[in-house]
Amino acid sequence: MLSEPEPRIAPPLGVLREVERVSQRTWAAEAVRRDPDYFTRLQQQQAPEYLWIGCSDSRVPANEIVGLAPGELFVHRNVANVVVHTDLNCLSALQYAIDVLGVKHVIVTGHYGCGGVRAAFDDARLGLIDNWLRHVEDVKHRHEGELVALSKERAVDRLCELNVIEQARHVCETTIVQDAWARGMPVTVHGWIYGLSDGRLRQLGFTAAHAGDVDPAYRASLLSVTA
Ligand code: CO
Repeated sequence: MLSEPEPRIAPPLGVLREVERVSQRTWAAEAVRRDPDYFTRLQQQQAPEYLWIGCSDSRVPANEIVGLAPGELFVHRNVANVVVHTDLNCLSALQYAIDVLGVKHVIVTGHYGCGGVRAAFDDARLGLIDNWLRHVEDVKHRHEGELVALSKERAVDRLCELNVIEQARHVCETTIVQDAWARGMPVTVHGWIYGLSDGRLRQLGFTAAHAGDVDPAYRASLLSVTA
């Protein structure tokens, strides 16, 4: 007699139901209680002033950290907040944010204790991700002279900062930001870092609002040693 085959992968329905239950009873209900038109208005438009480019790390939730509500922050996240010149995913988010939504600020935000940065620092072999993290390893090699003088922990923290500075520079070098500046659009690129241990955001001294700002911003931020 044939019996029903066991599903090979059991869907985590319990977890999904729990998420749904908590979401519906708390966050959604609270939002409507404060503002009955909340979802109706959000559904109609988004008008964010900020694009956040951050790490995928589950401990770095963009909106909560900066205290912005849904609709106020456009978000792109990937492992170790890397901006690769040919990454169509990141470039498309950047182009849509600037050209269509009209965001005024692009904020590259790294975080101390980043597993991706640590793996790049250690030259770890984790799989496909190694190829992505190779970009962070390139940052490590570019700043080897500074990093070798530090203890291991400080060097990893410093690499988290240096990675933000280099990726913020990459944002400035894209045709999207260069063209926006050439058109006189008010777009400012920032480099920030978040502390998992204290929940604080720190500026890394990288702020560029014109093409001519990029080199000075880059040099100034490299000198702002905080790790
Ligand atoms: Co990370």
